Amino acid sequence: MLVLANKKPVIIIKLGGSILTDKNTPNSLRNNVINGLISQIYDNYHNSNQPKLIIIHGAGSFGHPIANSFSIQNGLNQNIPNQTLGLTKTHQSVKKLNTKIVDSFLNKDIPVLSLTTSSVFFQEESALKFTGIKQIESLLELGIIPILYGDILLHDSKNFSIISGDRVIFEICKLFTSSIDTNHKVDKIIFCFDQDGIVISNSEKDSEVIQNIKSKDLDFISLKNFEDSIDVTGNIRGKLEEIKKICELGIPVQLINGQKPNLLTKALKNEKILSTLIE
Ligand code: IPE
Repeated sequence: MLVLANKKPVIIIKLGGSILTDKNTPNSLRNNVINGLISQIYDNYHNSNQPKLIIIHGAGSFGHPIANSFSIQNGLNQNIPNQTLGLTKTHQSVKKLNTKIVDSFLNKDIPVLSLTTSSVFFQEESALKFTGIKQIESLLELGIIPILYGDILLHDSKNFSIISGDRVIFEICKLFTSSIDTNHKVDKIIFCFDQDGIVISNSEKDSEVIQNIKSKDLDFISLKNFEDSIDVTGNIRGKLEEIKKICELGIPVQLINGQKPNLLTKALKNEKILSTLIE
């Protein structure tokens, strides 16, 4: 049995591509949303009573359209012209988004440092290998916020795919939960996206936000239809699959609307807001 009592608490924040960018217009940044979220993170960073943070961001329109146009998510296909060029362009594009986000933090004097996801994750046969945990630990100890993001994933046996930011979160949580060599434990994940939470449709009312749900019940809800956008990581259903696995590690996940003012600040302080808490 692992002793987690003396470990320092960490909150992981996912900044969804749906709020950082307009998913349907390639390379479109929502600067006002990004700066609003960073201001809230600034307040948390300067409050020594608050847990440390790890930030994971999605790809939005910097990743999904280009990955999809070369079918990167489905792996190597000799019939797709210039597919490996598309792989490198996809990586470069999400790296550009990452640079913009890192610059926005640094412009507000918040020390962040990004780890290139495709350099610290590798698919080896059926196992996903992650080699970044020591770097994350060092950054946290130094008071620097680590940032990772959805990216391309290299495999052995001459192949590749996409790794979502959500999968990155699960893998980090898994290592923090299982390793005795880490000084930190993940208390909670906050997913900032473009809805007030999980919206379900039911026959009486048109739609409603579920405020609390057990992860085992996620399979049985009837989700309100989301506007279709190009998403190579499975849309909201794909996200919920990763969220379920995170909850199974005993870590609660809160889905909040990242476009509404101050909700992230309140979620970081566990204040009551309209959101979905999955346990
Ligand atoms: C997608 O990552 C990565 C690429 C398409 C390269 P995510 O699945 O985490 O991105 P968002 O949050 O849906 O945009």
